[in-house]
Amino acid sequence: MGKVGFIFDLDGVIVDTAKYHYLAWRKLANELGFEFTKEQNELFKGVSRKRCLEILLDIGNVKATQKQFDTWMIEKNLDYLAYIEKMDASEILPDVPRVLNFLKERNIPIALGSASKNAQPILEKVGLLPYFDSIVDGNNVAKAKPDPEVFLIAADNLKVKPELCVVFEDAVAGIQAANAADMVSIGIGDLDILNEAQYNFKDFTEIDNQFLELLLNKNK
Ligand code: G6P
Ligand code: MG
Repeated sequence: MGKVGFIFDLDGVIVDTAKYHYLAWRKLANELGFEFTKEQNELFKGVSRKRCLEILLDIGNVKATQKQFDTWMIEKNLDYLAYIEKMDASEILPDVPRVLNFLKERNIPIALGSASKNAQPILEKVGLLPYFDSIVDGNNVAKAKPDPEVFLIAADNLKVKPELCVVFEDAVAGIQAANAADMVSIGIGDLDILNEAQYNFKDFTEIDNQFLELLLNKNK
């Protein structure tokens, strides 16, 4: 019994920014003299910027001083910012606005739960900021996904019990975080990769209003 809340990851759920993260990481890898593939980029989904650079340097077998590490973190982010600078509403993933409108019309609280420190400007650029009652991102959390912290803070901000929250995620670490928070986990993307999720959909076009109603009424 009680109020339900919905929490959305950003990258790969609301907008397809994974391609921009990939291009920026690949540029850095190439500068450091090695290749970085799209398959390797899968490992970066839902993972903090710092952890991504550690993994990238492992892939290239590159040792870095603290100063180099910090410089490369900044460089990657500047390149990423240059890509997202041009983002607009056309980059919102299919049917995301329908789902957000469905929830808004019913006064369901909505939060963002993302590892990105660039979440707010991206939501502004694509025009979705007004939908969110709370934004919890890489600037507000100490422990990265799969730790449930980001989603627990979001639930707290929405004043909704964790077990009454529904999470949409495209990253394995994100699904694990939602499960650890005792929330309903919904995988958006490849079922083979996101098989720990409670429900799986390729994208939001597969999520009809009937299923959303079911989620709303589940806890009544
Ligand atoms: C999301 C993405 C990751 C990215 C992380 C940090 O979780 O899926 O690929 O590394 O955010 O993003 P940031 O914008 O802070 O570099
Ligand atoms: Mg994601």
